[in-house]
Amino acid sequence: MGLIDFLKYPLHLYRKAYSKGVYSPWDDPERSYMLDPKHQSLLIEEIAGEMQVFSNAKFGTKLSLAEAATIVENFLDVYRNKPFLDNQGGSPFTNALAVFFSIRVLKPKVIVESGVWKGMTTYLMHKANPDAKIHCFDLSFGKLEYRCPMAEYHEHDWGKYEFTEEISADDVAFFDCHVDHSLRILEAHKKGFRQLIVDDNPPLHKLYSFGLPPFPTADMILNEDLKDGEKIRWVWNTKNKEYTVDGKRFNEAKSLLLSSDAFPEVSSTSRYGVKRGTHSFLSYVTLSS
Ligand SMILES: C[S@@+](CC[C@H](N)C(=O)[O-])C[C@H]1O[C@@H](n2cnc3c(N)ncnc32)[C@H](O)[C@@H]1O
Repeated sequence: MGLIDFLKYPLHLYRKAYSKGVYSPWDDPERSYMLDPKHQSLLIEEIAGEMQVFSNAKFGTKLSLAEAATIVENFLDVYRNKPFLDNQGGSPFTNALAVFFSIRVLKPKVIVESGVWKGMTTYLMHKANPDAKIHCFDLSFGKLEYRCPMAEYHEHDWGKYEFTEEISADDVAFFDCHVDHSLRILEAHKKGFRQLIVDDNPPLHKLYSFGLPPFPTADMILNEDLKDGEKIRWVWNTKNKEYTVDGKRFNEAKSLLLSSDAFPEVSSTSRYGVKRGTHSFLSYVTLSS
């Protein structure tokens, strides 16, 4: 770590401390919340209820509502203390909760993060599971604001990287890099990962809602109606876009893909993170052994 990197984080905390009210949006739990603890508990339980149902159904946990509520409460503390002025271009509130909750519950020893940006999701994953080793991959760390003490930083695509650690089925690879999900599924499976978190995973009929969808998305790969060579066309922000189904790549990925489930959208419930747009179909994806 060079001197500039060393100074970046404290400098950032200083800027954050002296810019309160200038950068943070109003719809952030750091700035807007109920004062009475009994009212705070009502919101925490409401969010926890959604996360508990998802976790028990998809992760196979047996979380009680009280256990889920403790995780949500911890998350709110961590989120309020984030060392960022804003996370424009990165995960909003609803994704931040899903990432934190998943890593707390799944307890991976090794985490891969592909697509780091300023470091918000690295921060959340480290706080969720401080003992986990995190491998951060990005093509450029020019925007990095938070540097995690448990992370190893790699300024290149993860594709050719060979891990020295043994990767187990409990470990997690998180893809928020806008790269084709079929490629990520093939790579992750080969490297030993069996559970992924992928962002920007719209179903086929909602491709229009993304400027840069990593198509084919995991959800599209599970779509039985798509045929080899089929052309999909849509308009994003008045620009014509199209994608032609590559049957070979599709089928390879499909043979490894077991499930893809979007996390609950807790911005609607909480009204946090609504200003900047909320749901990007962040999903939990499982692969065959
Ligand atoms: C949406 S941002 C990540 C946001 C971050 N996970 C967060 O929530 O705060 C996408 C990032 O992916 C990175 N990226 C693009 N192509 C990549 C690749 N092939 N491998 C790794 N990262 C890549 C971009 O440089 C950018 O920093």
